[in-house]
Amino acid sequence: MESFATLIANRRSTRKFTDQLLSPEQVELILKAALMAPASKRSNPWQFVVVEDKEMLKTLARCKANGSSFLEGCALAIVVLANVMESEVWIEDASIASIYMQLQAEDLGLGSCWCQIRNRQTEDEMDSSQYVRNVLNIPYQLEVLSIIGIGYKDQVRKPFDESHLQWEKIHLGTYKVPEEKENNQK
Ligand SMILES: Cc1cc2nc3c(=O)[nH]c(=O)nc-3n(C[C@H](O)[C@H](O)[C@H](O)COP(=O)(O)O)c2cc1C
Repeated sequence: MESFATLIANRRSTRKFTDQLLSPEQVELILKAALMAPASKRSNPWQFVVVEDKEMLKTLARCKANGSSFLEGCALAIVVLANVMESEVWIEDASIASIYMQLQAEDLGLGSCWCQIRNRQTEDEMDSSQYVRNVLNIPYQLEVLSIIGIGYKDQVRKPFDESHLQWEKIHLGTYKVPEEKENNQK
């Protein structure tokens, strides 16, 4: 079993998938990860729509002008919704559930990619959230945060290159503007 550090270095966004479907056990594990995600005050404001139907995946792939076409090729898409009346920090809660599913997918050797829906538009400049709401019959009180596309990887991606780690974004003790950091190093 790989360490968590290796898992997060290996998780890269996958946008090309094979035709292989996921097993029910794999899907269950991914959904369990979402349902176990921490949420503020345990309000669990999220809801998840699980989409496997090819035609529906094709329709969802048109939810944005850019960056959503990969959804057409995935085996499974999980649409992450949150009830804005149930939590004032639903964005955080739904984001954590989204990344939990991505990490569980990686642990299963599967690829995944986040498709941003909130604050995005379709090619016709329709709100992407509204587009997804119409397509999936989602009631108005539920916001659409993301769609997580998952499947067997059909592309090899290198683990995160540690030479790209932005250590300058780490501040020890107090925040330091870049000049202060440079002076400290002299
Ligand atoms: C909040 C968020 C929104 C994202 N939206 C999209 C998206 O709409 N389409 C897409 O192809 N990738 C999307 N991504 C994936 C990022 O492009 C990707 O994580 C980033 O480029 C780093 O690459 P890596 O995941 O391979 O390490 C999103 C990631 C995050 C965290």
